[in-house]
Amino acid sequence: MQKTVLIVDDEYAGRQTLVSVLESEGYQLKTAKNGHQALEKAETLKPDLILLDVMMPDITGYQVCQRIRQNIDIAEIPIIILTALNDHKSMLLALEAGADDFLSKPFDRHELRARIAGIMRLNRYQKLHDERTNLEQAHVELLNAYDATILGWSKAVTLRDQETEEHNQRVAKTSVALAEKMGLQGKDLRYIKWGALLHDIGKIGISDTILLKNGKLTPEEWHLMQEHPQHAYNMLKDITYLRPSIDIPYCHHEKWDGSGYPRGLKGTEIPLSARIFALADVWDALLSDRPYRKAWTREKTLAYIKEETGKHFDPDILSYFLAFVENN
Ligand SMILES: [Fe+2]
Repeated sequence: MQKTVLIVDDEYAGRQTLVSVLESEGYQLKTAKNGHQALEKAETLKPDLILLDVMMPDITGYQVCQRIRQNIDIAEIPIIILTALNDHKSMLLALEAGADDFLSKPFDRHELRARIAGIMRLNRYQKLHDERTNLEQAHVELLNAYDATILGWSKAVTLRDQETEEHNQRVAKTSVALAEKMGLQGKDLRYIKWGALLHDIGKIGISDTILLKNGKLTPEEWHLMQEHPQHAYNMLKDITYLRPSIDIPYCHHEKWDGSGYPRGLKGTEIPLSARIFALADVWDALLSDRPYRKAWTREKTLAYIKEETGKHFDPDILSYFLAFVENN
């Protein structure tokens, strides 16, 4: 692939000299006539090398060099500083500013070509750039693989349980939307999505006779059913990437007033993600038809949620929830 060299000099003659020295070398040559343009072109062109004049009005070559080194996207681009000042101090300044090499003007054409060829052969910038791109790509692929796996597990639970896959996905979406309204972002939202999709994964550990029973559960059966959050915890606790998502499967039946299960946590002892999920889950469940009851209206469901706030639900989340309901 053709390599790009960005030539930065405020003087036309200076730029042209460099172009004439390098035009037979097979590089794609680009020019900038001041420091601002150099920074702009370094970002947009991502050249393989920058030849940078020091003496420029406004921003000096040293300053351009420093700014490039501070910008993570272009920090690795090799820079040769060209200085008219053949003194020790200028060389030190060039190196301190982060230049890879320097040449004093008037420069020897052969030496300049040889130094550029050497830097191009090392290809350090391109290698680092490729490595970073590969790493980012691998990270995206890994997240996609996690997403697909978690969705698969979520579907597996709905195959056994009477809950539907759509409910799981809606509740995950609502929990994320609510969390976003509350200011959570980035990774935290992903962990909430995963936790919500897996909220009932512990039901894998509950027998069919209990899980699919049509009538009311006996006290003993109910006791066994209440173990599903603990099953979830035991299943997920050693999966490192799911560790931050475990709060919802483990704590989604806890209630604000401490009357929930499995641990009877109270108030903010209940992790925030589980408090958010509790609202999203009840909202979606009551608005859906179930084998044993018809779907409630939005008004009736909303009234119920308000009534349960402070008992089942966190009062601090209610205002965010009402804002969410208004827009959905
Ligand atoms: Fe559950």
